[in-house]
Parts: sequence; structure tokens; C-alpha cells
Amino acid sequence: MDQIDKRHSLIKSWLHEAADLLRESFNKELEIKEKTSRTDLVTNMDREIEVFLYEKITEHFPDERILGEESVGHDIRDLEGIVWIIDPIDGTLNFIKQRANFAIMIGIYEDGVGHLGYIYDVVRDELYFAIRHNGAFCNDRRLPLVEELPLSEGLVAISNRLVVADADEARRIAKNSSGLRVNGSAGLETAWVASGKLVAYIAPSLAPWDIAAGMVIAEEVGLVYRQVTGEKINLLQNNAVIVANSHAFQEIRNEWR
Ligand code: IPD
Ligand code: CA
Ligand code: CA
Repeated sequence: MDQIDKRHSLIKSWLHEAADLLRESFNKELEIKEKTSRTDLVTNMDREIEVFLYEKITEHFPDERILGEESVGHDIRDLEGIVWIIDPIDGTLNFIKQRANFAIMIGIYEDGVGHLGYIYDVVRDELYFAIRHNGAFCNDRRLPLVEELPLSEGLVAISNRLVVADADEARRIAKNSSGLRVNGSAGLETAWVASGKLVAYIAPSLAPWDIAAGMVIAEEVGLVYRQVTGEKINLLQNNAVIVANSHAFQEIRNEWR
């Protein structure tokens, strides 16, 4: 087994263990705290999953650094060497209120280049992953390159934040597409663009851990994953993003005010 295969099977086994912890938590009471506001919540399970992954990574890859949403990992100010970028639960509000529509996400970058990306939809038992230059998959199914569909022929997901911050922009996108969807998990919405269920995903402020895993998967299926300005993503800050095939990407950019 080469190094990538070893890493890949370890990560898959950790994701399944972490998913078991989350499923078990469905029968227990969650400890819920506000982070910055009423709509920005964190649970004991966000931290528990991040600690679980942190311990696994440091045990097997002690020289590699970790950037996690819940700050269990290192203080990352550059992307030199190997950096694991983790979102223990993407879609925490859905996790709390629906016990569904959330994902565990891991992206592995070397000197700023994405090599491995994992988005695990725990409840649907769908693991989206990609290995740089080796394609993207949903479980055992290889994802084909995306079609260059125009916006008018596909469903578009946007983040709730865009609706609140710029309803006119949201309305323009809705009018130009087959319809709008707001699901509440940047990771799952990106995975659904990569698997052809959606034609684009747009969000005005995503953190590095919302982006890292999905960007590796997106690149393997020929999607454009960039800032709304057209610039490359900067994984050391928040970004306003569009994920789409290049045709739809340009259409959204042309309409962006
Ligand atoms: C959030 C979700 C949401 C997106 C937010 C993210 P979290 O992640 O992905 O869909 O709109 O910007 O912060 O906080 O649930 O991990
Ligand atoms: Ca997230
Ligand atoms: Ca999270």
C-alpha cells in the first residue's frame, strides 16, 4: 500500500468511528452554547468530534499541523507543509434541529495545494471524497466530470447569510436558475454541485474549514471554486465563494452587483 492509500483508509475508518459517536448522540441531550449569536451555535459534539480527529491525526502524523473550527488544533498562519483543515460538524444548526443534513469534513493540503478531501453525510451514509489527480467519488461511485449546464437548467444553493445580507442578489439568482435551495451545510451543498444535483453554490462568507474539503472534490470534477471576484480562494481568511461549472460561474459573476 502506498502512503496515500494508507492515509485514505485510516481517514475513512476515523470518519466512520466519528459518525458512530454522532449517531449515538442522537439519543442523548446535547449541550448547546451560543458562539457569536443566536444563530451561531456549538454543541459538545462539535468539540468531541474535533478532539477525536485531532488525537487520531497527531497519533499517526505527529509532524503535521491541524486547523480546526473549534480551535483544538494549532494556530495556523501559513499553509507550509501538510495542514489538515477540519470541520467536525458542518451544518451544526441542522444537526441540532433536524438530526440530519450535516457532515464531517476533512481537507488535507500540502504547501497550500489540496490533496485529499472528505465530506461525510452521516445520516445518508454518503462519503464524498477526492484524491488529487485520482478523481472524486461518492462511496464507491466515481463522479463524472460536471456538465457545462447553464444556470437556467439547474438548481442553485445559496447560504442563508446571502438571503439575509443581499436579498436582491438572491432573487436575481433564483430568477435565472431552475430554482433556489437553502440547505445549511456548505459542505453538502458543494458535494451536491460536484455530483450534479445542483448547478452552483454561492455563499458570501465561508471559513477555511467550510471550504477545504469541498474544494479538493470540486477540482477533481472540473468545477470552478473561486471567490465571487474571480480571485483564487485564500484559505487563511473568510471568502465570498461561488462553486459552479465554468459556464454557470461566469453567468453568476456577470450578474453579481
Ligand atoms: C456553516 C454552514 C452554513 C454556512 C455557514 C457555515 P457550521 O457551518 O456550512 O451552511 O452558511 O457560513 O458557517 O457553522 O455549521 O459548521
Ligand atoms: Ca462549517
Ligand atoms: Ca462546524
